[in-house]
Amino acid sequence: MTNQFDNSKKMYNQAKKYIAGGISSQIRKNDPAKIPLFFSHAKGSKMWDVDGNEYIDYIQGMGPNLFGHSPDFISELVKKEMDRGYVFAAQFEKEIEIAKMALELIPIKNATARFAISGTEIDQLLFRVMRGYTKKNKIVKFEGHYHGWMDSVNYSVHPSLSIAGDENNPNPIPESTGMDLNTRKSLIICEWNDEEKIEKVFNEFGDDIAGVITEPILANTNCILPKKGYLEKVKSLCEKHNALLAFDEVITGFRVAAGGAQELLKITPHIATYAKSMAGGFPMSMIVGEKQIMNEIGNGNVYHGGSFNSNVMSTAATYATLKYLQDSKTTFYENLNKKGEFMIENLKSVSKSQESDMHVQGIGSLLSISFTNKEEIINWRDHAKNCNEEKYSIFAYEMLKNGIRLSSNGRMHISSAHTHEDLEKTISAVEKVLSKL
Ligand SMILES: Cc1ncc(COP(=O)(O)O)c(C=O)c1O
Repeated sequence: MTNQFDNSKKMYNQAKKYIAGGISSQIRKNDPAKIPLFFSHAKGSKMWDVDGNEYIDYIQGMGPNLFGHSPDFISELVKKEMDRGYVFAAQFEKEIEIAKMALELIPIKNATARFAISGTEIDQLLFRVMRGYTKKNKIVKFEGHYHGWMDSVNYSVHPSLSIAGDENNPNPIPESTGMDLNTRKSLIICEWNDEEKIEKVFNEFGDDIAGVITEPILANTNCILPKKGYLEKVKSLCEKHNALLAFDEVITGFRVAAGGAQELLKITPHIATYAKSMAGGFPMSMIVGEKQIMNEIGNGNVYHGGSFNSNVMSTAATYATLKYLQDSKTTFYENLNKKGEFMIENLKSVSKSQESDMHVQGIGSLLSISFTNKEEIINWRDHAKNCNEEKYSIFAYEMLKNGIRLSSNGRMHISSAHTHEDLEKTISAVEKVLSKL
């Protein structure tokens, strides 16, 4: 049986009358269903759309649902705590607990934290702190990396190679019209995973560089792991030039390990940002950095505000998440990563048996599917030159019709709620779809 989307289509047509474009976040325009689907409910690994179709979901809120959709232990604590009130715009005792737990799990030592609501927002605070602390202005941003949709950084996420410029001196390509293009003067765009290129940038601009922001594992392009020694090289260049290394762990934090990519890759940055997985589906973000750097916020030199910061529901959800992770740290990640590795291995073997160019990269519960004949994709330009995005869109559409919800950008998030049966069903669906692709 294939899925029909008639009710979603009707709702989308209605939504377009009242909501600009009928959607509330741009990426939903690219829904594999070819129209943005409307959902009625979700639980664990599953989602149900308004046409009654059931899906095994691998978008999982674009990452936050580490335990699947609406896990009971989070719902219960949030319901209980929200009896106290919702938004105090004042301090709340549980905030101290979540900061303590987070700092115990995160490798950066002698650190403090600050909380906000979204990943986009916390990365803005990060740039202020980097500039405020170093008294320098330029931030190095890599092609293929995403750090939210604000003017200061929404450049060269997935730029077309026809306009991206020379690989040794890439153009900052704005992702949107309406951006203040003066901001591009404060950015240096660089190709990722290439020691020579970042060294050249520091040789040329070292005196002006406040810091480097990187996804430590490039989740926004093919889930690429850094080459051995690459991040260490970037860190040593930062230290040589009095700049800061920042990891954007909005996706990797609390997902690839309790201590995020830092724990997995055994390298600590000076400062890092977190969001998605830390609150199991509730809006919450956090910046963590060495105390002397974070003191720039602590002493009020760097202004940071937000009415909804540390609201009761988000704080309670974070408390439930971090307590769960702290109590079951080793077994939780062992089990989750085993599921991820099972998926990665089986997808690879199905691709081989079907003589397909379907390609899988990633680690543990974070992986990405693309179509390419290359053995490994190493950065955005490599993806843009070698991956067939059109073929992936057809694949994702066919998978959806077989009850598997994949993201439009190829990234899959496996949650602890995914059962062995879910994984087996998914692998069978991939086999079926590839055999006809
Ligand atoms: C690495 C990274 N940083 C920042 C963001 C922005 O987070 P948010 O969507 O919560 O604003 C995202 C979102 O996908 C992300 O992947």
